[in-house]
Amino acid sequence: MTQSTQAKPSKRQLHLGLFLFSTGYHPAGWRLPEAATDGAFDPKFLHRVAQRLEEAKFDFFFLGDALATSADMQHTFPSQMVRLEPFTMIANIAAVTEKIGLIVTANTTYSEPYTVARQTASLDYLSGGRLAWNVVTGMDVRAAQNYSREKHWDNSKRYDYADEFVKIVQELWDSWENEAFVRNKETGQFVDGNKVHRINHEGEHFSVAGPLNVARPPQGQIPLLNAGTSERSRDLGAQQSSAVFTGQIVLELAKTFYAEIKTKAVQYGRSPDEVFILPGLVPLVGRTSEEARAKYRELNSLLVTDYDVTPLSARIGIDLSAYPLDGPLPDLSLSSLPGNEAKWLVGLAQKAEGREAITVRELFHYFAATSRGHLLIVGNPEEIADQMAEWFEGGAADGFNICPPYMPGGLDLFVDLVVPVLQRRGLFRTAYEANTFRGHFGLSVPENRFAKKAALQGASE
Ligand SMILES: Cc1cc2nc3c(=O)[nH]c(=O)nc-3n(C[C@H](O)[C@H](O)[C@H](O)COP(=O)(O)O)c2cc1C
Repeated sequence: MTQSTQAKPSKRQLHLGLFLFSTGYHPAGWRLPEAATDGAFDPKFLHRVAQRLEEAKFDFFFLGDALATSADMQHTFPSQMVRLEPFTMIANIAAVTEKIGLIVTANTTYSEPYTVARQTASLDYLSGGRLAWNVVTGMDVRAAQNYSREKHWDNSKRYDYADEFVKIVQELWDSWENEAFVRNKETGQFVDGNKVHRINHEGEHFSVAGPLNVARPPQGQIPLLNAGTSERSRDLGAQQSSAVFTGQIVLELAKTFYAEIKTKAVQYGRSPDEVFILPGLVPLVGRTSEEARAKYRELNSLLVTDYDVTPLSARIGIDLSAYPLDGPLPDLSLSSLPGNEAKWLVGLAQKAEGREAITVRELFHYFAATSRGHLLIVGNPEEIADQMAEWFEGGAADGFNICPPYMPGGLDLFVDLVVPVLQRRGLFRTAYEANTFRGHFGLSVPENRFAKKAALQGASE
């Protein structure tokens, strides 16, 4: 297999991926009359989604994962409640697509490095070098109960474990040099044992000898991605990840996050251009702003909720319990939040509704619709493209993890109406220039560490 070492496109462009919520990101997305409700288990639906993304020249198709569930998530995260196992599903998607990058989530807390190295290397082959690994340490504490553990480890133990885990996986990927395969029919030599390496890892949590029983993956080192809010996860991202996912809804805070990861990456000896910051974006697209707002109102009218304003009160720093749901908002200067944060947050809900005089209920709706912390924009294609450009050009994003509010219509509208606007403005590619995940991001294939060491030794002899 040839390895792609694509040059970067001359002009900086957006990177776009889909964060799959099979019933849509909006908790009530599945209740729209036109929405699919059982897409998570329908291969035809999943193929169609992946193929639409490929037609639109998206960079990637991303599957999150969790290791526990319960029926009470149905009114908040219905599409995260039950879904297919990511490695299995991506193998299937790889077979019906050709270009788009594919991201699997694998949890380091409940797995073994040798297993993940094998699975990811295998999928990189099956997809022709299109895989990336979203490294998570697990956000659902209930996973411990499914994996014979007494409790979910704390943040520092999870990230200590993850750091060692990732290092081993990366060494295992290199354990076969490409030149190890002699395949000489005349002499009968299949491999050159000098180019196959044990890693002999003995660390605090793992002992792994290697080599891996899969040859070096087509991308050499499979790109890593991660998301996280803690210091440790931001360090992992700055040091190791090719892309960092994040949930940001306030532009100024998004800029701070962006600058922090890039600065940290430089401190780890990397170029800031090697780590792409990708906030989530929920585009509620209409042909006109009025059509988009009508859909937003329709979705909100379908929310099943008891209107508990406690988390919302904490969010904006004002106790809302004494205010009637259909009455006006309190004076925002009462907020205990620093600076203008409450105003920014309320501004998002006002923008979504298309007017300033919003009610407590309408504010609640916005935050219910963005409960996982991603920016929701309601608007026509130009308005949505304007905001994407503002974040992209203003140092807040290198692209977006698109989370359509309902499926498949919410994705179709984005692909059919917003992508052409971005392309017309030169902000997004009109054709793929590469066939691999690394290629879409302009990342070259790293040299094999063992081959490099041997070359250095050879040179000094
Ligand atoms: C866009 C995005 C996607 C995420 N996907 C997953 C996921 O699939 N599985 C998971 O366990 N956690 C996922 N997370 C959670 C993070 O991995 C992380 O655990 C969480 O943000 C808490 O941060 P911390 O790990 O630094 O404490 C995701 C977070 C974001 C922002």
